[in-house]
Amino acid sequence: MGNDGTRIVLTGFMGVGKSTVARHLARLTGKRQVDLDDEIERRRAVSIPEIVKNGGIERFRQIETEVLGEVLASPKAAIISLGGGAWITEANREMIKNSGVTAVWLETTFEHCWRNIRFSRKERPLVKNKRQARKLFDERERYYCLADWHFVIDRGYNSFDIAQKIASDVFSIDAVAARGRRRNR
Ligand code: S3P
Repeated sequence: MGNDGTRIVLTGFMGVGKSTVARHLARLTGKRQVDLDDEIERRRAVSIPEIVKNGGIERFRQIETEVLGEVLASPKAAIISLGGGAWITEANREMIKNSGVTAVWLETTFEHCWRNIRFSRKERPLVKNKRQARKLFDERERYYCLADWHFVIDRGYNSFDIAQKIASDVFSIDAVAARGRRRNR
């Protein structure tokens, strides 16, 4: 199956804004959005920090792969925001590719991610301090680069702008027109 751009995963480092962009995109395109971390917690009825506490990061990665498979099997899940580590697992990248789902990398600076990590309410058991986060950030770039598309979020370009750009470049939907249609419903 080829990546025809009708379904996407959003990948990128923790704190880049994958879930926010996914929510904007869902509104702009009328497609269904699924957040992988939320699905893990909902389907397994346990929080991610608890999974990591009880079974370690390896157990979390196992469950992440299982739930990703379940989500990919549902064709209605058109916009899937991944946790920052999901794309790093080779088996997950293969599964995404084999499902014909297009991978979109959201990139920004480490400082931008770190600011969001620090001020967010989401508990991220993998990141205990800035040095550890920086190390992960540097190690992961070469994997994120493997995504089909690449969008950069910077100061002049926020998550809504990026969602509009993805809607138009990847989904070939004129985001402004799409918003107009939804408002007039
Ligand atoms: C992780 C990122 C988190 C979550 C888990 C592990 C990672 O998601 O899946 O804490 O390894 O980068 P976000 O990218 O949404 O923070």
